[in-house]
Amino acid sequence: MDRYIFVLGSNWQLSLAELDNCLKYSQLKGRIIDYSANIAVVEFENLHLEKHYINKLMEFQFLLGGCQKIAKIFEFIDLPTIHEAFPLTIEKFKLIDKIRKKISTDLSSVLDKVFPRIKKKSLFYAVSIYPNFYDEEYYKSILTKHFLPFLNKEIMAILKQKGAEKALYYKYPEKNIIEGNLNPIFPHHLIKYGLFNEDRAEIIFGFTEDGVYIARTYTSDDPSFKKKIDEQRPFKEFKSSISPKLAIMMLNFLNIFENREEKRILDPFVGNGTIFLFAMIQDFQVYGTDVDATKIENSIKNSNWLLEELEENIPLLNERFKIVDIKNLSNILENEFFDGICTEPYLGPFLNKKPYYIETQHLIDTELEPLYEATFREAFKVLKQKGRICIIAPIISTIDGGNVQININKIALNNNFKVIPMIDPKRIINKMNDKLQFRNLNNLIDAKKNQILFRKIYVFEKQ
Ligand SMILES: C[S@@+](CC[C@H](N)C(=O)[O-])C[C@H]1O[C@@H](n2cnc3c(N)ncnc32)[C@H](O)[C@@H]1O
Repeated sequence: MDRYIFVLGSNWQLSLAELDNCLKYSQLKGRIIDYSANIAVVEFENLHLEKHYINKLMEFQFLLGGCQKIAKIFEFIDLPTIHEAFPLTIEKFKLIDKIRKKISTDLSSVLDKVFPRIKKKSLFYAVSIYPNFYDEEYYKSILTKHFLPFLNKEIMAILKQKGAEKALYYKYPEKNIIEGNLNPIFPHHLIKYGLFNEDRAEIIFGFTEDGVYIARTYTSDDPSFKKKIDEQRPFKEFKSSISPKLAIMMLNFLNIFENREEKRILDPFVGNGTIFLFAMIQDFQVYGTDVDATKIENSIKNSNWLLEELEENIPLLNERFKIVDIKNLSNILENEFFDGICTEPYLGPFLNKKPYYIETQHLIDTELEPLYEATFREAFKVLKQKGRICIIAPIISTIDGGNVQININKIALNNNFKVIPMIDPKRIINKMNDKLQFRNLNNLIDAKKNQILFRKIYVFEKQ
């Protein structure tokens, strides 16, 4: 069976959970058989039987919010071998030389698969190394400084031996190599350098605790497309908006993969419509409500702009939007009408410095808890049986009382929703490193460093 590397998004836990969920429930079934903080190794059940399997991979890439690239694996070398060939301190050079020669032999057979034709061809390649973690010493001092130059030179020599007319490789900035903070090339570079062409390739060396997987990239995310929608839509507010990737991941946690074009999704705190727009792109029948009339107007303009961008015939979208306070939602929407709800409610006022505990607790007690309570009560009414809600709740970091949050599980359970673990414990393989373990399966956090407000993502199902 063929195996593939999936390069994970910056929030690797969320990306991995999304990927596992899609492999379990979408049309393309498979399993994650190994992972690190940067890659997942996937084995599909039936992909090898598909004639146009690259198209299938491209569709799968488009479905995922948290996947940067997909690459086909051609070889695996275990970690002890790599450590022997590239030790932290060199003692026995003869032994090292022997093992490096063995690695070169492996590379030689990989290259026959990476480049369908080598003889007399002008070839170009970019080597990308994904370590177990970026901050590990072995990556900074060995993989970037010794393994990468070895690979670049060795691959060039092998290609020339095999009769290539020319073999050139992508040169990373020397400064990053010296400082040991190298990032593999970004998805938009793959497109810029034509690395999906027959004679040009990105060759990925993806490390896990077990060893290194060697693969060729077949598809990548198109970040410029998402960025354009996010940044060029007529109305936006960066302070309060979630990222396009997060919006797509949240939609995937609803577990609706078949006949999306017939499935009705609601965002009852639609705002400027980030979730709404990406749900449109992902083919859902999407509806949006908000208490603020200006936000509804903005969302309508944004979605019409998107339809024009996509060159779709513009249907009347206005009836898909309603101005309504969450507490009255079921008064204006039909009961049991929606297949899923995906939303980021009001998370409190924008904070540019940490608040005190007492004021935060007051905000939670008087505003946020009643708002979430109303959300679950109303969601229960408008959702179909077994319909899911994927929802964000805030964690607020305070000056004097640590992190404060709302007890969402309790509110959800009181309103007859059951918790859906974001990652299935039975499907996730064990890792030795503590940092690679999933401590909490029931919610995941979307956070950047030094934030005051963190977004926690939950999934619940109507009972
Ligand atoms: C955090 S924003 C949602 C942002 C949205 N995800 C986006 O990307 O633009 C929260 C939205 O909830 C709306 N809102 C606040 N209180 C509400 C209520 N009681 N009922 C309905 N909507 C409300 C606000 O008007 C605001 O647009």
